[in-house]
Amino acid sequence: MSDIFSRLNYGFIGTGSLCQAFLQGFLQNNRIPKERIFLSSRTPARLQKTAKRFSVQTVSSNEELVLTSQVIFLCVKPDDLVPAIEPLASQFNPQQTLISFPAGVPLSELKKLLPHVKRLVRVVPNTPMSIGEGLFAYSLVQADSGLESFVETLLSPLGKVLKMPEDNLSAFTVAASSGVAFVLELMQYWNEWLENHHFPAELARKISTHTFLGAALWAKSFPDLSLAQLQLQVASKKGMTAEGLKAFNEAQLDSVLHYGFEKTALREKKLFQD
Ligand SMILES: NC(=O)c1ccc[n+]([C@@H]2O[C@H](COP(=O)([O-])OP(=O)(O)OC[C@H]3O[C@@H](n4cnc5c(N)ncnc54)[C@H](OP(=O)(O)O)[C@@H]3O)[C@@H](O)[C@H]2O)c1
Repeated sequence: MSDIFSRLNYGFIGTGSLCQAFLQGFLQNNRIPKERIFLSSRTPARLQKTAKRFSVQTVSSNEELVLTSQVIFLCVKPDDLVPAIEPLASQFNPQQTLISFPAGVPLSELKKLLPHVKRLVRVVPNTPMSIGEGLFAYSLVQADSGLESFVETLLSPLGKVLKMPEDNLSAFTVAASSGVAFVLELMQYWNEWLENHHFPAELARKISTHTFLGAALWAKSFPDLSLAQLQLQVASKKGMTAEGLKAFNEAQLDSVLHYGFEKTALREKKLFQD
């Protein structure tokens, strides 16, 4: 990472799962020096525990964090957002960058709450960032090539970074952020199948993980072929795999998944209103 990034201070408000996934990702590839990372959170014991685990600094309040950091990662849940940031509204200066993660909180609301923040970014992450295999979608209030390149350079060591209109973030959240948990749900079914057929748990997990990984890498290797075309290479007509796919179709697996995705999207819309 160029010098500018290692000369900035990075502050995290909220030290839950998301903050920890970031710390793991950033520190694993030495992108940000530990001494440049500051944390503040609501519950002191948990704050200290996280700081100790990653050997990074703590500050005593969110206000102190904003005074200390040039880049602020807002990692609280949507219903904790207003109490966390309202008292900070007047503390920001125009050079600071605020990266907001609370799901379902639009830029327009953030702008209202934090009128002094000029460099405001809304990001939807996904958890494999902790191993450098994440996926991020981000939106800005208005086009700003300097800020875009800053965000992309900062996050790209942790995964792919995609800029998109804010209207698309909700569908992205369902598919890519909640999507990781959905894929793990399917993988559990693979495990269960194997374990029910007397495979030891460790071997079942190895087989299911590698099946998903292999299928994903295979699809990635052939971007010009549709997923249905690739599927045909596995499922020859009237063969056993085709029989399984036909049964999924009869049982309306697509409707089941669609229902789950829609329910997730509805919940995302309500997160900030509840
Ligand atoms: N986890 C992920 O991988 C992931 C992925 C995509 C999106 N997100 C989004 O990221 C946001 C955070 O998720 P999370 O999983 O990290 O939640 P989490 O584990 O519940 O962590 C939230 C953190 O915020 C702290 N907090 C609450 N109010 C605060 C305040 N006033 N000042 C300072 N800290 C405060 C909490 O402190 P306490 O210890 O007192 O609770 C906790 O440490 C959510 O909106 C989620 O939708 C998360």
